[in-house]
Amino acid sequence: MKKNILVTCAFPYSNGDIHLGHILENIYADIWVRYQRLIGNKVYFICSDDSHGTAILLKSIEMQVNPNIMIKNILLNHKEDFIKFNILHDYYYKTHNKYNLNFLKFFIKKSYTKNVILNKNILQFYDNKKKIFLPDRYIMGTCPNCFSNNQYGDNCIICGSIYNSLDLINPISLISKNKPILKNSNHLFLNLNILKNKIFNWIDSINLQKNVFNQLYYWLNKSLINWNISRDSPYFGFKISNRFIKNKYYYVWLDALLGYISTFYKFCKINNNNYLFNEFWNINDNNYELYHFIGKDILYFHGILWPVILDILDYRKPTNLIVHGHLLIDNYKMSKSYKNFISIKNWLKFYDSDSLRYYFSSLLSNNFNDINLSLSDFVNKINSDIVNKFVNISSRISKLLEINFNNILSKKLWNDNFYYFFVKEFYIINKYYSDFNYYKVIIKINFYLDLVNKCITDNKPWDLNYSLKNINNLHMFCTTILNIFKLISTYLIPIIPNIISKIEIFLNTKLNWKNFDKPLLNHEISKYNNIYNRIVLYNLNELMIN
Ligand code: MSP
Ligand code: ZN
Repeated sequence: MKKNILVTCAFPYSNGDIHLGHILENIYADIWVRYQRLIGNKVYFICSDDSHGTAILLKSIEMQVNPNIMIKNILLNHKEDFIKFNILHDYYYKTHNKYNLNFLKFFIKKSYTKNVILNKNILQFYDNKKKIFLPDRYIMGTCPNCFSNNQYGDNCIICGSIYNSLDLINPISLISKNKPILKNSNHLFLNLNILKNKIFNWIDSINLQKNVFNQLYYWLNKSLINWNISRDSPYFGFKISNRFIKNKYYYVWLDALLGYISTFYKFCKINNNNYLFNEFWNINDNNYELYHFIGKDILYFHGILWPVILDILDYRKPTNLIVHGHLLIDNYKMSKSYKNFISIKNWLKFYDSDSLRYYFSSLLSNNFNDINLSLSDFVNKINSDIVNKFVNISSRISKLLEINFNNILSKKLWNDNFYYFFVKEFYIINKYYSDFNYYKVIIKINFYLDLVNKCITDNKPWDLNYSLKNINNLHMFCTTILNIFKLISTYLIPIIPNIISKIEIFLNTKLNWKNFDKPLLNHEISKYNNIYNRIVLYNLNELMIN
């Protein structure tokens, strides 16, 4: 039966360019979305900018613009970048919107009704020089768990532990480089322990990656710390209106997660389909599925806090979390804070988008291992797989078809078995896509390409005195090879959309998953135009200049 699937990527912050790390995640999701559509499922693919928080406020101060104007401009930029990579979001929004605020109010009301929210007076780090309470990301110190230096106030990138910033050893404010002082104030908390069993039930009921499952179990087995959902002023976000809590805002992560709901709400609204929205979140409706693609750094938010929020709202919980590792450069996570990132705009000055989609696919599997970016590996792979093996088949065969047969394919295949071998592979390719194991697709494709190239070399179609003997056989041979090329292209539809468009023009037909096995016979193809050119190696540092 046809499924209805909502797919999301994590929302990039509105304080900088989209970089290759973000694109990795969106490519991971986009390929799956395209695959699901090919097999006939209905997919809603949404994303949004994450508009709030101290980082965004500070960026707007640095740039001397109103944060509202800044996030508007950045939104336009982000949308453009994703489109350039053929990421097919059905809707891309921002979390700074009135619907999101309404869902937030609704959520808070429900939390009070269910008695899972509380007020507490707490001590916090304060930068006495800049007169600002310090969010976790603006404090650095030594990890209380593994004693690694230069770790943020919320979690340690080396050992992965999550802690209270007050436990950080030798803390220092990243804003003033001073030692912060401690100050107290009132805050709003969600009592996570009350809902712990529900979260246990949820992770037991779904098919999480093994490591994700273990990590969530580990966190749940310890006592969960109440989640502070408020932040002190100055802040950019939704203001709290509460008698006991003055001059404070909701924590960006709360409204960011609720953004999944409000973005989908807006999408349904502009499509005049409120019915879909209500049906979708209804726990009792089995026709709907919810998938979140996220990096491993934000697993706690999506694996613990998000299902808690959904439980409080009485909404559907995720069908699965698809967690990927980090894109590294020289073993460091690519990120704005390390200034080691390649922006989309820069990447596209040197290379195209399909090549990166292909390269990432060759490295993406259903686990959260990190991925190291090596430009020489990238260039070699593209030149060897796409240029030397894949495109080479079409250029060799098209020449023969043009010279000898006026670009008209024969009425019959040369060797049915050879052709139907590749047809039968369809089911394996489907499984790899559906299991998020794209690297297996790429391995298989390369196996096919080697077979086809060997078949061409073995039969020497340019020499009729060799195995093919006569022009009829040559015609059927070229037609068969070209049809196998068409099958392989079809299997690559989700990965390299630009190249596929060119192939469709060349083959003079639309490629599709339906009727994929039907060969083109007695069919006129177009005059061959080069499909893809060799790429050259640039210096990584050139790509990182921003
Ligand atoms: N704004 C939050 C997400 C809120 S979701 C309701 C956030 N933003 S982010 O810009 O830091 O990251 C967005 C996504 O990009 C996350 O899933 C994160 O893991 C991913 N990546 C950011 N840098 C990355 C790499 N270097 N490599 C792979 N993914 C990376 O977190
Ligand atoms: Zn550590």
